[in-house]
Amino acid sequence: MGFMFEDLDVYQKGMDLVDQVTARAMAKVKSVARSFLGRTILANIAAGFRVVGVEATMWDARGHTFGASMDETLDLSFTRAIGGEDLLPLFRQTYWAPKRSVDQIEGMLHNSPIVLGAWQGRRLIGFARVLTDDVYRAVIDDIVVDEPFRGRGVGTAMVKALLERLKHVEEIFLGCDAKEVRFYEKLGFNRAKNPYMRLRPG
Ligand SMILES: CC(C)(COP(=O)(O)OP(=O)(O)OC[C@H]1O[C@@H](n2cnc3c(N)ncnc32)[C@H](O)[C@@H]1OP(=O)(O)O)[C@@H](O)C(=O)NCCC(=O)NCCS
Repeated sequence: MGFMFEDLDVYQKGMDLVDQVTARAMAKVKSVARSFLGRTILANIAAGFRVVGVEATMWDARGHTFGASMDETLDLSFTRAIGGEDLLPLFRQTYWAPKRSVDQIEGMLHNSPIVLGAWQGRRLIGFARVLTDDVYRAVIDDIVVDEPFRGRGVGTAMVKALLERLKHVEEIFLGCDAKEVRFYEKLGFNRAKNPYMRLRPG
């Protein structure tokens, strides 16, 4: 049994079809691979931004914005107005200030010489304040990061911003629980030798 001319024609058409289908399949594989690679590269860039943003940010009196990831930005600011309503949900997550009222919080904000807000868009996701004479002594207080945002470097970035702001001050204090000691040690704090004295009027 041999090939007829017509058979060759059909054979060639079949082969052309196979080529077309293979080419389409290869294009699909390539497109999937490119998209996967693209996403991987973008994810790595985003992670890089996060690390660089946290480690290399400089702050000034007007506050500073840095990229936290490709689709979100963290804004650390000493000047952006914080309302009592912004802060209330953060204080509710703390063990020392869950019952503060909006009025009390606003009085506190008004009388604190240095307040730092960490914002994501319009949402306050971190807070800290400082009581200080801006020369000899400073006490950092009320450091808190909104729970879903913890463990992502926001707390570290806030403390670094505060230390930059207070770098000329002779001594900086803060009180913390045993479980936070390591967090502050990594940022340069040491356990004080002398015990603190405390009195709670009323
Ligand atoms: C403490 C706090 C402000 C830290 O903020 P954060 O954004 O979560 O901190 P970071 O992401 O910068 O964490 C930095 C490191 O400290 C560790 N860390 C942070 N808080 C910790 C805690 N409570 N216990 C143990 N480790 C903690 C993190 O695991 C991370 O470790 P790593 O660098 O080895 O990964 C935040 O956890 C918080 O708001 N806690 C509740 C309120 C509070 O306790 N405030 C402190 C009052 S002194």
